[in-house]
Amino acid sequence: MSSSTLPPGYQLQFWQPLAYVQSPYRFFRKAHERFGDPFLVKTTAPTVVTANPDSIRQIFTAPPETYHVRLPKSQQRVLGRHGLSGLDGSAHRQTRKLISPCFHGEALRHLGGMMHETAVEALAGWRDGESREALDVMRDIGLDVILKTIFGVACRERLVVFRAAVLDFAAAFGNPAFLCSALLGIDRDNWPPNRRMDVARQKLSDLIVENIAERRGRSAERADILSRLMEARFDDGSGFSDAALVDNLITNLIAGHETSALSLTWAFAWLGRHADVAERLQQEIDGLSRDDDINAILALPYLDAVVKECLRLYPAVPEVVRMLAKPMTLAGYELPAGINVAASSAILHMNPELYPNPERFNPERFLERSYGGFEFIPFGGGDRICIGNHFGVFEVKIVLATLLSRGRFTLLDKETIKVKRRGFLMGPAQVRLSYRAK
Ligand code: HEM
Repeated sequence: MSSSTLPPGYQLQFWQPLAYVQSPYRFFRKAHERFGDPFLVKTTAPTVVTANPDSIRQIFTAPPETYHVRLPKSQQRVLGRHGLSGLDGSAHRQTRKLISPCFHGEALRHLGGMMHETAVEALAGWRDGESREALDVMRDIGLDVILKTIFGVACRERLVVFRAAVLDFAAAFGNPAFLCSALLGIDRDNWPPNRRMDVARQKLSDLIVENIAERRGRSAERADILSRLMEARFDDGSGFSDAALVDNLITNLIAGHETSALSLTWAFAWLGRHADVAERLQQEIDGLSRDDDINAILALPYLDAVVKECLRLYPAVPEVVRMLAKPMTLAGYELPAGINVAASSAILHMNPELYPNPERFNPERFLERSYGGFEFIPFGGGDRICIGNHFGVFEVKIVLATLLSRGRFTLLDKETIKVKRRGFLMGPAQVRLSYRAK
Protein backbone atom coordinates (compact mmCIF):
# COMPACT_ATOMS: atom_id res chain seq x y z
CA MET A 1 0.00 0.00 0.00
CA SER A 2 1.31 3.49 -0.88
CA SER A 3 2.28 5.73 2.02
CA SER A 4 -0.73 7.98 1.54
CA THR A 5 -3.91 7.80 -0.50
CA LEU A 6 -6.50 10.51 -0.79
CA PRO A 7 -10.17 10.03 -1.65
CA PRO A 8 -11.56 11.40 -4.92
CA GLY A 9 -12.54 15.05 -5.31
CA TYR A 10 -12.70 17.92 -7.78
CA GLN A 11 -9.58 18.45 -9.88
CA LEU A 12 -9.79 22.19 -10.35
CA GLN A 13 -9.12 24.10 -7.19
CA PHE A 14 -9.61 27.82 -7.75
CA TRP A 15 -13.43 27.89 -7.67
CA GLN A 16 -13.84 25.64 -4.63
CA PRO A 17 -13.39 28.31 -1.91
CA LEU A 18 -15.94 30.52 -3.65
CA ALA A 19 -18.49 27.74 -4.11
CA TYR A 20 -17.98 26.81 -0.47
CA VAL A 21 -18.49 30.37 0.78
CA GLN A 22 -21.61 30.79 -1.31
CA SER A 23 -23.33 27.61 -0.13
CA PRO A 24 -21.45 24.98 1.87
CA TYR A 25 -24.62 22.83 1.91
CA ARG A 26 -24.84 22.68 -1.87
CA PHE A 27 -21.07 22.38 -2.31
CA PHE A 28 -20.74 19.45 0.12
CA ARG A 29 -23.91 17.63 -0.94
CA LYS A 30 -22.99 17.78 -4.65
CA ALA A 31 -19.46 16.53 -3.99
CA HIS A 32 -20.87 13.74 -1.80
CA GLU A 33 -23.29 12.68 -4.54
CA ARG A 34 -20.56 12.71 -7.14
CA PHE A 35 -17.58 11.20 -5.30
CA GLY A 36 -19.11 9.16 -2.48
CA ASP A 37 -17.91 9.11 1.12
CA PRO A 38 -15.33 10.36 2.02
CA PHE A 39 -14.33 12.95 -0.59
CA LEU A 40 -11.63 15.57 -0.88
CA VAL A 41 -12.18 19.32 -1.17
CA LYS A 42 -9.78 22.22 -1.25
CA THR A 43 -11.31 25.20 0.47
CA THR A 44 -8.74 26.92 2.68
CA ALA A 45 -6.70 23.68 2.88
CA PRO A 46 -7.09 20.12 1.57
CA THR A 47 -9.91 18.59 3.62
CA VAL A 48 -11.28 15.05 3.61
CA VAL A 49 -14.99 15.29 4.30
CA THR A 50 -17.20 12.51 5.64
CA ALA A 51 -20.79 12.08 6.73
CA ASN A 52 -20.55 8.39 7.51
CA PRO A 53 -21.47 7.83 11.18
CA ASP A 54 -18.65 5.27 11.62
CA SER A 55 -16.04 7.66 10.20
CA ILE A 56 -17.50 10.49 12.29
CA ARG A 57 -17.18 8.29 15.36
CA GLN A 58 -13.55 7.68 14.46
CA ILE A 59 -12.87 11.42 14.06
CA PHE A 60 -14.60 12.37 17.32
CA THR A 61 -13.14 9.58 19.44
CA ALA A 62 -9.52 9.71 18.20
CA PRO A 63 -7.00 10.50 20.97
CA PRO A 64 -6.40 14.26 21.34
CA GLU A 65 -2.81 14.02 20.08
CA THR A 66 -4.20 12.90 16.68
CA TYR A 67 -4.95 16.57 15.96
CA HIS A 68 -3.39 19.94 16.39
CA VAL A 69 -4.64 23.45 15.92
CA ARG A 70 -2.98 25.87 13.50
CA LEU A 71 -5.42 28.73 13.21
CA PRO A 72 -4.99 30.66 9.98
CA LYS A 73 -4.00 34.30 10.53
CA SER A 74 -7.52 35.47 9.61
CA GLN A 75 -9.05 33.38 12.40
CA GLN A 76 -6.41 34.51 14.86
CA ARG A 77 -7.42 38.06 13.98
CA VAL A 78 -10.98 37.30 15.10
CA LEU A 79 -10.55 34.83 17.95
CA GLY A 80 -7.03 35.61 19.18
CA ARG A 81 -4.30 33.09 19.94
CA HIS A 82 -5.05 32.40 23.60
CA GLY A 83 -8.73 31.42 23.42
CA LEU A 84 -10.07 27.89 23.52
CA SER A 85 -10.44 27.64 19.74
CA GLY A 86 -6.74 28.35 19.19
CA LEU A 87 -5.46 25.84 21.76
CA ASP A 88 -4.68 22.16 21.49
CA GLY A 89 -3.30 19.37 23.69
CA SER A 90 -3.14 19.88 27.43
CA ALA A 91 -3.62 23.68 27.19
CA HIS A 92 -6.97 23.06 25.49
CA ARG A 93 -7.95 20.35 27.97
CA GLN A 94 -7.10 22.44 31.02
CA THR A 95 -8.76 25.58 29.70
CA ARG A 96 -11.95 23.68 28.88
CA LYS A 97 -11.96 22.19 32.35
CA LEU A 98 -12.02 25.69 33.85
CA ILE A 99 -14.54 27.25 31.44
CA SER A 100 -16.95 24.35 31.01
CA PRO A 101 -18.65 24.54 34.46
CA CYS A 102 -19.67 28.15 33.68
CA PHE A 103 -22.02 26.90 30.96
CA HIS A 104 -23.36 23.71 32.52
CA GLY A 105 -25.27 22.25 35.47
CA GLU A 106 -25.85 24.47 38.45
CA ALA A 107 -24.53 27.64 36.70
CA LEU A 108 -27.02 27.12 33.90
CA ARG A 109 -30.01 26.67 36.20
CA HIS A 110 -29.34 30.14 37.66
CA LEU A 111 -29.45 31.72 34.22
CA GLY A 112 -32.94 30.56 33.16
CA GLY A 113 -34.79 33.44 34.86
CA MET A 114 -32.49 36.03 33.26
CA MET A 115 -33.07 34.48 29.80
CA HIS A 116 -36.84 34.61 30.32
CA GLU A 117 -36.67 38.27 31.45
CA THR A 118 -34.51 39.20 28.48
CA ALA A 119 -37.14 37.77 26.11
CA VAL A 120 -39.89 39.66 27.96
CA GLU A 121 -37.89 42.92 27.68
CA ALA A 122 -37.44 42.33 23.94
CA LEU A 123 -41.21 42.01 23.49
CA ALA A 124 -41.78 45.20 25.46
CA GLY A 125 -39.79 47.04 22.79
CA TRP A 126 -41.84 45.53 19.94
CA ARG A 127 -44.98 47.57 19.16
CA ASP A 128 -48.25 45.72 18.70
CA GLY A 129 -48.78 45.12 14.97
CA GLU A 130 -45.23 46.12 14.04
CA SER A 131 -43.24 43.88 11.69
CA ARG A 132 -39.55 43.25 12.14
CA GLU A 133 -36.73 41.11 10.83
CA ALA A 134 -36.66 38.10 13.18
CA LEU A 135 -32.88 37.83 13.16
CA ASP A 136 -32.52 41.43 14.44
CA VAL A 137 -34.81 40.70 17.36
CA MET A 138 -33.22 37.34 18.16
CA ARG A 139 -29.71 38.75 17.84
CA ASP A 140 -30.52 41.48 20.38
CA ILE A 141 -31.87 38.84 22.75
CA GLY A 142 -28.91 36.50 22.19
CA LEU A 143 -26.43 39.30 22.68
CA ASP A 144 -28.04 40.57 25.87
CA VAL A 145 -28.19 37.03 27.25
CA ILE A 146 -24.51 36.32 26.64
CA LEU A 147 -23.40 39.77 27.84
CA LYS A 148 -25.38 39.38 31.07
CA THR A 149 -24.02 35.86 31.48
CA ILE A 150 -20.43 37.00 31.06
CA PHE A 151 -20.49 40.38 32.79
CA GLY A 152 -23.52 40.17 35.10
CA VAL A 153 -26.77 42.11 34.97
CA ALA A 154 -25.80 44.84 37.43
CA CYS A 155 -24.55 47.48 35.06
CA ARG A 156 -27.01 48.27 32.26
CA GLU A 157 -25.11 51.28 30.84
CA ARG A 158 -22.10 49.01 30.46
CA LEU A 159 -24.22 46.50 28.55
CA VAL A 160 -25.21 49.15 26.02
CA VAL A 161 -21.56 50.04 25.35
CA PHE A 162 -20.58 46.38 25.08
CA ARG A 163 -23.49 45.63 22.78
CA ALA A 164 -22.38 48.32 20.32
CA ALA A 165 -18.77 47.08 20.41
CA VAL A 166 -19.75 43.44 19.80
CA LEU A 167 -22.05 44.37 16.91
CA ASP A 168 -19.28 46.45 15.34
CA PHE A 169 -16.88 43.55 15.72
CA ALA A 170 -19.40 41.04 14.31
CA ALA A 171 -20.02 43.34 11.33
CA ALA A 172 -16.26 43.55 10.66
CA PHE A 173 -15.79 39.79 10.49
CA GLY A 174 -19.11 39.22 8.72
CA ASN A 175 -17.97 41.64 6.02
CA PRO A 176 -17.80 39.63 2.73
CA ALA A 177 -14.54 41.40 1.84
CA PHE A 178 -12.97 40.16 5.09
CA LEU A 179 -14.23 36.60 4.47
CA CYS A 180 -12.91 36.56 0.90
CA SER A 181 -9.56 37.93 2.07
CA ALA A 182 -9.46 35.19 4.69
CA LEU A 183 -10.10 32.49 2.09
CA LEU A 184 -7.55 33.93 -0.31
CA GLY A 185 -4.97 34.24 2.48
CA ILE A 186 -4.67 38.06 2.29
CA ASP A 187 -3.23 38.74 5.73
CA ARG A 188 -1.72 42.21 5.33
CA ASP A 189 -2.44 44.44 8.32
CA ASN A 190 -3.01 47.51 6.16
CA TRP A 191 -5.60 45.79 3.93
CA PRO A 192 -8.82 47.77 4.71
CA PRO A 193 -11.08 44.81 5.70
CA ASN A 194 -8.30 43.51 8.01
CA ARG A 195 -7.69 46.96 9.47
CA ARG A 196 -11.41 47.43 10.17
CA MET A 197 -11.40 44.05 11.90
CA ASP A 198 -8.35 44.92 14.03
CA VAL A 199 -9.81 48.28 15.09
CA ALA A 200 -13.16 46.71 16.08
CA ARG A 201 -11.45 43.93 18.03
CA GLN A 202 -9.16 46.35 19.83
CA LYS A 203 -12.15 48.41 20.95
CA LEU A 204 -13.87 45.35 22.38
CA SER A 205 -10.68 44.09 23.93
CA ASP A 206 -10.08 47.50 25.63
CA LEU A 207 -13.55 47.37 27.16
CA ILE A 208 -12.94 43.89 28.55
CA VAL A 209 -9.52 44.84 29.93
CA GLU A 210 -11.11 47.90 31.61
CA ASN A 211 -13.63 45.59 33.26
CA ILE A 212 -10.95 43.19 34.41
CA ALA A 213 -8.90 46.04 35.92
CA GLU A 214 -11.93 47.38 37.79
CA ARG A 215 -12.66 44.01 39.34
CA ARG A 216 -9.07 43.23 40.36
CA GLY A 217 -8.53 43.84 44.01
CA ARG A 218 -12.26 43.91 44.78
CA SER A 219 -13.62 40.90 46.61
CA ALA A 220 -15.60 39.07 43.98
CA GLU A 221 -18.98 37.86 45.12
CA ARG A 222 -20.35 37.89 41.63
CA ALA A 223 -21.41 34.75 39.85
CA ASP A 224 -20.86 36.02 36.31
CA ILE A 225 -18.40 34.29 34.03
CA LEU A 226 -15.77 37.01 34.04
CA SER A 227 -15.55 36.82 37.84
CA ARG A 228 -15.49 33.04 37.80
CA LEU A 229 -12.73 32.93 35.21
CA MET A 230 -10.69 35.54 37.06
CA GLU A 231 -10.80 33.31 40.13
CA ALA A 232 -10.25 30.02 38.28
CA ARG A 233 -6.90 28.29 38.83
CA PHE A 234 -5.07 25.69 36.75
CA ASP A 235 -3.57 22.65 38.49
CA ASP A 236 -0.27 24.53 38.99
CA GLY A 237 -2.08 27.37 40.82
CA SER A 238 -1.75 29.92 38.01
CA GLY A 239 -4.76 31.78 36.62
CA PHE A 240 -5.74 33.07 33.19
CA SER A 241 -3.58 35.90 31.80
CA ASP A 242 -5.44 39.03 30.71
CA ALA A 243 -4.81 38.07 27.08
CA ALA A 244 -6.36 34.64 27.67
CA LEU A 245 -9.35 36.18 29.47
CA VAL A 246 -9.92 38.61 26.60
CA ASP A 247 -9.62 35.95 23.88
CA ASN A 248 -11.89 33.51 25.69
CA LEU A 249 -14.52 36.11 26.43
CA ILE A 250 -14.49 37.37 22.84
CA THR A 251 -14.79 33.78 21.58
CA ASN A 252 -17.79 33.12 23.79
CA LEU A 253 -19.41 36.47 23.01
CA ILE A 254 -19.21 35.72 19.32
CA ALA A 255 -19.84 31.96 19.39
CA GLY A 256 -22.59 32.37 21.96
CA HIS A 257 -25.01 34.90 20.52
CA GLU A 258 -25.33 34.55 16.77
CA THR A 259 -25.70 30.75 16.89
CA SER A 260 -28.65 30.88 19.29
CA ALA A 261 -30.15 33.81 17.38
CA LEU A 262 -29.99 31.84 14.13
CA SER A 263 -31.65 28.80 15.71
CA LEU A 264 -34.47 30.97 17.05
CA THR A 265 -34.89 32.65 13.67
CA TRP A 266 -35.08 29.24 12.00
CA ALA A 267 -37.78 28.25 14.47
CA PHE A 268 -39.96 31.17 13.35
CA ALA A 269 -39.15 30.51 9.68
CA TRP A 270 -40.34 26.89 9.98
CA LEU A 271 -43.27 27.44 12.34
CA GLY A 272 -44.62 30.14 10.02
CA ARG A 273 -44.67 27.61 7.17
CA HIS A 274 -46.00 24.62 9.10
CA ALA A 275 -49.27 25.53 10.78
CA ASP A 276 -49.75 21.99 12.15
CA VAL A 277 -46.42 22.06 13.98
CA ALA A 278 -46.99 25.64 15.19
CA GLU A 279 -50.39 24.65 16.60
CA ARG A 280 -49.11 21.57 18.38
CA LEU A 281 -46.25 23.54 19.91
CA GLN A 282 -48.54 26.41 20.90
CA GLN A 283 -50.88 23.98 22.68
CA GLU A 284 -47.97 22.53 24.60
CA ILE A 285 -46.73 25.97 25.63
CA ASP A 286 -50.23 27.24 26.49
CA GLY A 287 -50.50 24.25 28.82
CA LEU A 288 -47.77 25.71 31.07
CA SER A 289 -49.19 27.17 34.24
CA ARG A 290 -46.51 29.90 34.17
CA ASP A 291 -44.18 30.86 31.34
CA ASP A 292 -41.29 31.52 33.74
CA ASP A 293 -41.32 27.98 35.11
CA ILE A 294 -37.94 27.07 33.67
CA ASN A 295 -38.01 23.40 34.67
CA ALA A 296 -41.45 22.95 33.14
CA ILE A 297 -40.28 24.56 29.88
CA LEU A 298 -37.24 22.33 29.71
CA ALA A 299 -39.43 19.25 30.19
CA LEU A 300 -41.69 19.98 27.19
CA PRO A 301 -41.14 17.12 24.71
CA TYR A 302 -42.50 18.78 21.58
CA LEU A 303 -40.51 21.95 22.18
CA ASP A 304 -37.42 19.77 22.47
CA ALA A 305 -38.25 18.05 19.16
CA VAL A 306 -38.89 21.37 17.37
CA VAL A 307 -35.57 22.83 18.54
CA LYS A 308 -33.69 19.71 17.43
CA GLU A 309 -35.36 19.76 14.01
CA CYS A 310 -34.36 23.42 13.62
CA LEU A 311 -30.76 22.50 14.46
CA ARG A 312 -30.85 19.57 12.02
CA LEU A 313 -32.04 21.10 8.78
CA TYR A 314 -29.55 23.87 8.07
CA PRO A 315 -26.90 23.55 10.77
CA ALA A 316 -25.25 26.94 11.39
CA VAL A 317 -21.86 25.21 11.21
CA PRO A 318 -22.13 22.81 8.23
CA GLU A 319 -18.91 20.93 9.03
CA VAL A 320 -16.45 20.65 11.90
CA VAL A 321 -12.81 20.36 11.01
CA ARG A 322 -9.74 18.81 12.65
CA MET A 323 -6.17 19.12 11.38
CA LEU A 324 -4.24 15.84 11.48
CA ALA A 325 -1.06 15.95 13.56
CA LYS A 326 -0.31 12.38 12.53
CA PRO A 327 -1.45 10.07 9.72
CA MET A 328 -4.92 8.52 9.98
CA THR A 329 -6.56 5.64 8.18
CA LEU A 330 -10.11 6.70 7.40
CA ALA A 331 -12.52 4.53 5.42
CA GLY A 332 -9.56 2.70 3.89
CA TYR A 333 -7.66 5.85 2.87
CA GLU A 334 -4.24 6.55 4.36
CA LEU A 335 -4.39 10.26 5.13
CA PRO A 336 -1.13 12.13 5.75
CA ALA A 337 -0.45 14.47 8.68
CA GLY A 338 -1.10 18.14 7.90
CA ILE A 339 -4.39 17.80 6.05
CA ASN A 340 -7.84 18.30 7.55
CA VAL A 341 -10.59 15.82 8.22
CA ALA A 342 -14.15 17.12 8.54
CA ALA A 343 -17.44 15.70 9.80
CA SER A 344 -20.23 17.30 7.82
CA SER A 345 -23.59 17.82 9.51
CA ALA A 346 -24.83 19.38 6.26
CA ILE A 347 -24.66 15.93 4.61
CA LEU A 348 -25.20 13.69 7.63
CA HIS A 349 -28.43 15.43 8.64
CA MET A 350 -29.82 14.79 5.13
CA ASN A 351 -29.15 11.03 5.20
CA PRO A 352 -32.55 9.46 4.32
CA GLU A 353 -31.68 6.26 6.19
CA LEU A 354 -31.42 8.24 9.40
CA TYR A 355 -33.91 10.96 8.55
CA PRO A 356 -36.62 9.70 6.16
CA ASN A 357 -37.81 12.46 3.83
CA PRO A 358 -34.93 14.58 5.08
CA GLU A 359 -35.89 17.86 3.37
CA ARG A 360 -39.14 17.97 5.32
CA PHE A 361 -39.47 19.94 8.54
CA ASN A 362 -40.80 17.17 10.75
CA PRO A 363 -40.09 17.49 14.50
CA GLU A 364 -42.03 14.26 15.12
CA ARG A 365 -38.97 12.32 13.92
CA PHE A 366 -37.24 13.28 17.18
CA LEU A 367 -40.18 11.89 19.19
CA GLU A 368 -40.17 8.64 17.25
CA ARG A 369 -36.51 7.80 17.74
CA SER A 370 -33.41 9.12 19.39
CA TYR A 371 -30.19 9.92 17.58
CA GLY A 372 -26.67 9.17 18.76
CA GLY A 373 -23.74 11.57 18.97
CA PHE A 374 -22.46 10.46 15.55
CA GLU A 375 -25.87 10.76 13.83
CA PHE A 376 -26.93 14.22 14.99
CA ILE A 377 -24.03 16.66 15.31
CA PRO A 378 -25.15 20.31 15.26
CA PHE A 379 -22.62 20.99 18.04
CA GLY A 380 -19.76 18.92 16.63
CA GLY A 381 -18.36 16.23 18.90
CA GLY A 382 -15.52 14.69 20.83
CA ASP A 383 -13.10 16.74 22.92
CA ARG A 384 -13.95 19.93 21.07
CA ILE A 385 -17.74 19.64 21.11
CA CYS A 386 -19.35 23.07 21.50
CA ILE A 387 -18.79 24.19 25.06
CA GLY A 388 -22.09 26.09 24.96
CA ASN A 389 -24.21 23.18 23.65
CA HIS A 390 -26.40 22.89 26.76
CA PHE A 391 -26.46 26.65 27.25
CA GLY A 392 -27.53 27.18 23.60
CA VAL A 393 -30.40 24.67 23.68
CA PHE A 394 -31.48 25.88 27.13
CA GLU A 395 -31.60 29.47 25.88
CA VAL A 396 -33.41 28.69 22.62
CA LYS A 397 -36.09 26.73 24.48
CA ILE A 398 -36.68 29.38 27.16
CA VAL A 399 -36.73 32.31 24.74
CA LEU A 400 -38.98 30.51 22.23
CA ALA A 401 -41.43 29.40 24.93
CA THR A 402 -41.54 32.91 26.44
CA LEU A 403 -42.11 34.63 23.09
CA LEU A 404 -44.82 32.17 22.01
CA SER A 405 -46.62 32.33 25.32
CA ARG A 406 -46.81 36.15 25.22
CA GLY A 407 -47.19 36.98 21.55
CA ARG A 408 -48.70 35.89 18.26
CA PHE A 409 -46.30 36.03 15.35
CA THR A 410 -47.13 35.98 11.65
CA LEU A 411 -44.52 35.14 9.06
CA LEU A 412 -44.92 37.74 6.30
CA ASP A 413 -43.04 36.09 3.48
CA LYS A 414 -43.63 32.38 3.03
CA GLU A 415 -41.77 31.86 -0.22
CA THR A 416 -39.12 29.18 -0.58
CA ILE A 417 -36.60 29.14 2.23
CA LYS A 418 -33.39 30.89 1.28
CA VAL A 419 -30.16 30.38 3.15
CA LYS A 420 -27.50 33.04 3.55
CA ARG A 421 -23.94 33.25 4.83
CA ARG A 422 -23.68 35.12 8.13
CA GLY A 423 -19.97 35.53 8.72
CA PHE A 424 -18.54 32.12 9.59
CA LEU A 425 -22.07 30.78 10.06
CA MET A 426 -25.04 29.99 7.85
CA GLY A 427 -28.62 31.09 8.49
CA PRO A 428 -31.96 31.96 6.93
CA ALA A 429 -31.93 34.86 4.43
CA GLN A 430 -35.02 36.78 5.48
CA VAL A 431 -37.64 36.04 8.10
CA ARG A 432 -39.98 38.98 8.54
CA LEU A 433 -42.43 38.67 11.41
CA SER A 434 -45.33 40.75 12.57
CA TYR A 435 -46.16 40.68 16.25
CA ARG A 436 -49.39 40.97 18.23
CA ALA A 437 -49.44 40.92 21.99
CA LYS A 438 -51.75 38.31 23.50
C1 HEM B 1 -27.42 26.81 19.00
C2 HEM B 1 -26.30 27.28 19.43
C3 HEM B 1 -24.91 26.80 19.04
C4 HEM B 1 -24.46 26.02 17.99
C5 HEM B 1 -25.29 25.38 16.89
C6 HEM B 1 -23.02 25.86 18.16
C7 HEM B 1 -22.21 25.10 17.32
C8 HEM B 1 -20.86 24.88 17.55
C9 HEM B 1 -20.03 23.98 16.78
C10 HEM B 1 -20.51 23.13 15.61
C11 HEM B 1 -18.77 24.02 17.30
C12 HEM B 1 -17.53 23.24 16.79
C13 HEM B 1 -17.44 21.96 17.61
C14 HEM B 1 -16.40 20.97 17.13
O1 HEM B 1 -15.38 21.40 16.55
O2 HEM B 1 -16.61 19.75 17.31
C15 HEM B 1 -18.78 24.95 18.40
C16 HEM B 1 -17.69 25.25 19.18
C17 HEM B 1 -17.70 26.17 20.20
N1 HEM B 1 -18.81 26.84 20.68
FE1 HEM B 1 -20.72 26.66 20.04
N2 HEM B 1 -22.63 26.57 19.25
C18 HEM B 1 -23.74 27.14 19.83
C19 HEM B 1 -23.78 27.89 20.98
C20 HEM B 1 -22.69 28.27 21.71
C21 HEM B 1 -22.72 29.06 22.91
C22 HEM B 1 -24.02 29.56 23.56
C23 HEM B 1 -21.43 29.24 23.33
C24 HEM B 1 -20.89 29.98 24.52
C25 HEM B 1 -21.61 30.45 25.45
C26 HEM B 1 -20.58 28.55 22.38
C27 HEM B 1 -19.19 28.50 22.47
C28 HEM B 1 -18.39 27.67 21.70
C29 HEM B 1 -16.95 27.53 21.88
C30 HEM B 1 -16.09 28.27 22.90
C31 HEM B 1 -16.52 26.57 20.96
C32 HEM B 1 -15.07 26.05 20.77
C33 HEM B 1 -14.91 24.80 21.64
C34 HEM B 1 -13.51 24.20 21.60
O3 HEM B 1 -12.76 24.45 20.65
O4 HEM B 1 -13.18 23.43 22.55
N3 HEM B 1 -21.37 27.97 21.42
N4 HEM B 1 -20.06 25.45 18.54
